[in-house]
Amino acid sequence: MQRRLHAVSGVAAALLLVALAVSGALLAPGPAYDRAQVSVPPRGTVSVADLAAAVVARYPLAEQISRKPSGRVVVDYTEGDEPLSMTIDPATAEPISPYAPSAFGTRIGDLHRAFGMGDSSLGHGLAGLGAVALALVALSGLRLLITRMGGLRMLRAPVRGTPLQRLHVVLSRSSFLALLLLALSGGYMSAAFFGLLPSGMEAQPDYPAEFGAAAPLPVDQMPALRAVDLRDLRKLVFPYDGDPTEPYELVTRTGAGFIDQASGEVVSWLPHSGARRVYAAVLALHTGQGLWWLALLTGAAALAVPPLAFSGVVLWWRRRRARPRIRRNVALANADTVILVGSEGNSTWGFAYTLQNALTAAGHFVHVAEMNQLSAAHCGDRRMFILTATYGDGAAPATARRFLEILPKLKATPKRGVTVLGFGDRDFGHFCYFAVEVEAALIAKGWPIFSHLETINRESPQEFARWGDAIAPHLGHELRLVHIAETPRRQPFELISRQDYGADVGAPSAIMRFGAPPDVRRGIWQKLTGRAALPYFEAGDLIGIVPPGSNMPRYYSIGSASADGFLEFSVREHAHGVCSRFLHGLMPGDRISAFVRPNPEFRLDAGRNPVIMVGAGCGVGPLAGFIRANKARRPMRLYFGARDPDSDFLYRAEMMDWLSEGRLSALVTAFSRTNDKAYLQDKLRADAEVLRTMVKAGAQVMVVGSREMARDVMAAMDEVLAPVGLSAAKLKADGRYVEDIY
Ligand SMILES: Cc1cc2nc3c(=O)[nH]c(=O)nc-3n(C[C@H](O)[C@H](O)[C@H](O)COP(=O)(O)OP(=O)(O)OC[C@H]3O[C@@H](n4cnc5c(N)ncnc54)[C@H](O)[C@@H]3O)c2cc1C
Ligand SMILES: Cc1cc2nc3c(=O)[nH]c(=O)nc-3n(C[C@H](O)[C@H](O)[C@H](O)COP(=O)(O)O)c2cc1C
Repeated sequence: MQRRLHAVSGVAAALLLVALAVSGALLAPGPAYDRAQVSVPPRGTVSVADLAAAVVARYPLAEQISRKPSGRVVVDYTEGDEPLSMTIDPATAEPISPYAPSAFGTRIGDLHRAFGMGDSSLGHGLAGLGAVALALVALSGLRLLITRMGGLRMLRAPVRGTPLQRLHVVLSRSSFLALLLLALSGGYMSAAFFGLLPSGMEAQPDYPAEFGAAAPLPVDQMPALRAVDLRDLRKLVFPYDGDPTEPYELVTRTGAGFIDQASGEVVSWLPHSGARRVYAAVLALHTGQGLWWLALLTGAAALAVPPLAFSGVVLWWRRRRARPRIRRNVALANADTVILVGSEGNSTWGFAYTLQNALTAAGHFVHVAEMNQLSAAHCGDRRMFILTATYGDGAAPATARRFLEILPKLKATPKRGVTVLGFGDRDFGHFCYFAVEVEAALIAKGWPIFSHLETINRESPQEFARWGDAIAPHLGHELRLVHIAETPRRQPFELISRQDYGADVGAPSAIMRFGAPPDVRRGIWQKLTGRAALPYFEAGDLIGIVPPGSNMPRYYSIGSASADGFLEFSVREHAHGVCSRFLHGLMPGDRISAFVRPNPEFRLDAGRNPVIMVGAGCGVGPLAGFIRANKARRPMRLYFGARDPDSDFLYRAEMMDWLSEGRLSALVTAFSRTNDKAYLQDKLRADAEVLRTMVKAGAQVMVVGSREMARDVMAAMDEVLAPVGLSAAKLKADGRYVEDIY
């Protein structure tokens, strides 16, 4: 809901906001420029009476003096028949320069306030809508950010994700408060324009009924004007020349009233109402008039709006495109069946779509949604299917991370029962573990289970069809599930080179480097930059390959960035493995068809904190990518495990170069088939002191490789960190211990 609110209000308002923000940013330097041009006498040195006397002496036909929020003092007077305005020195009334607001400023101000439509309600209404949209986007964005970063306390933590995601988060984090201030103050002013909120500007003091009969007092002797400091003056209007019955009209910071010429005393006074004071404060906060530093700050924040709008729209569009489209999704209110989906890589959405089609064909009204969206509205007189994958090492996938938090708070129940179908991979230790957790939570909650948990290994369409047959009796009709997996759009890559290792120690592995085939068309950006026609990827992302004879993609961790101009990964050949054997059979010039899957959880932290890297065998692949890109010479310490230095020491020559260049600060190796046989966990324990010092200095830990190795490494790190009150789990919770395991 938050994501949708953020996306819908953000996309709808993007253009409106960009126009408001750019015009606002252009206006922002105004107050600072004005302030730099005027001198403001200290409080207590010049009274309004002093100023008025000096003005009258220099401009006998002065009509009014006004003091702008910047401190600029302007006299309006006539010369001959011509009305003129002059900025004057407030201490002496010496003319400084003729006063005329700039045409550019006026036009931009009009554009900002009413989209160039002057005082029209439509223009002001659009500007008001822009303010409301900005407030909605900012607040829904804040909630999303808190969820994404793992709580309010983590809001300032380093950001992970693609460069565009990082740009969006960093810009919104740094401009949030200023943008919210602009949105709320702008909304308030629009509401006041339409009379929805009082501005207090309409109330005027009563015009005095009687005046003193004596001759007018010289202006510098008027007690009421002597009592007001120049800094509190807003406006002083002089009586018509020679008319003793006209009073002076005075507006100050605190009120407005009239002053009798004869006595020089206030004869009518109306203090500013609370509403007017609030309005003045809001106006000052929004425009920065009188608060030039705030204007510069909010102006800078407004400049963040165009890149925020652009990155937000692109991210929204990419998200939409990545998600398989669920056609014919029945509105929740009309649905008798609900399918909730937990997915990270989208394949489970495909199964949900197949199930939805089969149920719809059997006469059901089916609504499909993310598990994170679970609410009471999904319950009631309905049947519920929960289809969920498992990620990490037994963890929830992206669209189901909040499910177990939401479930216990719900009061409603899906009366026709619920069933869970887990999607996973038996190669992982915690097979379909999240699905198991979900079913246990449903049972604990007392929801009726109409069919117990079943699992699907490696996206098997046969197992899915069998599950359909098993579930059919509960539905009272046949359920034929024919699932044809849809993989993301793939593109060709051509093998440039391969380096082979490990054949003689029973661990055949290869570093494979691919490029874009020469006959693949390059986009405009690639032509401009002279880059190859590669998709965008970073080290640590995954390449998905669907081998001949299989529907299911296998993933490999990428060890280069698209900026390097090639795509590199390391593959260990499995004895009967379909994909790894296919890859090991390739020769330079051969092609594969593959797609990139971003893996934003597995990224280097921003900044220069040290990094501890642990990888065995082909697991060193993505780590090599991070080290190769370490031009800033950030401290990186690599623990590398293999069997024999003379056989499966991947990247051996490159590592020596990286050490001498300073891209790698230390290399610790552990070989299991040599005389001084050692494992990575032994080396970590032996280096406990060094590792503790690095972690205390803010180090991030990155582990890549098999699950068994990752478990042993984690146990060793727990021992290493225990004396300083830390553990791998604590570092993980802070995003400082990341794993890429398989
Ligand atoms: C996030 C992620 C990142 C990964 N990164 C890498 C990486 O960088 N490098 C890398 O090498 N791998 C990586 N993998 C693993 C990779 O995706 C594949 O799982 C691996 O290459 C095996 O795929 P396959 O098609 O060769 O084996 P499959 O055909 O899928 O078989 C799976 C396993 O079953 C065994 N098997 C199959 N048939 C038989 C049989 N008849 N008898 C006995 N055993 C059998 C195979 O030997 C294999 O071990 C990664 C996996 C994930 C999830
Ligand atoms: C990085 C990664 C971690 C995974 N971890 C597990 C796991 O711990 N347990 C499991 O059963 N399956 C695991 N899987 C397998 C997925 O759950 C399975 O491929 C699922 O079908 C993916 O569905 P999705 O594409 O909708 O996310 C993992 C897959 C990947 C790529």
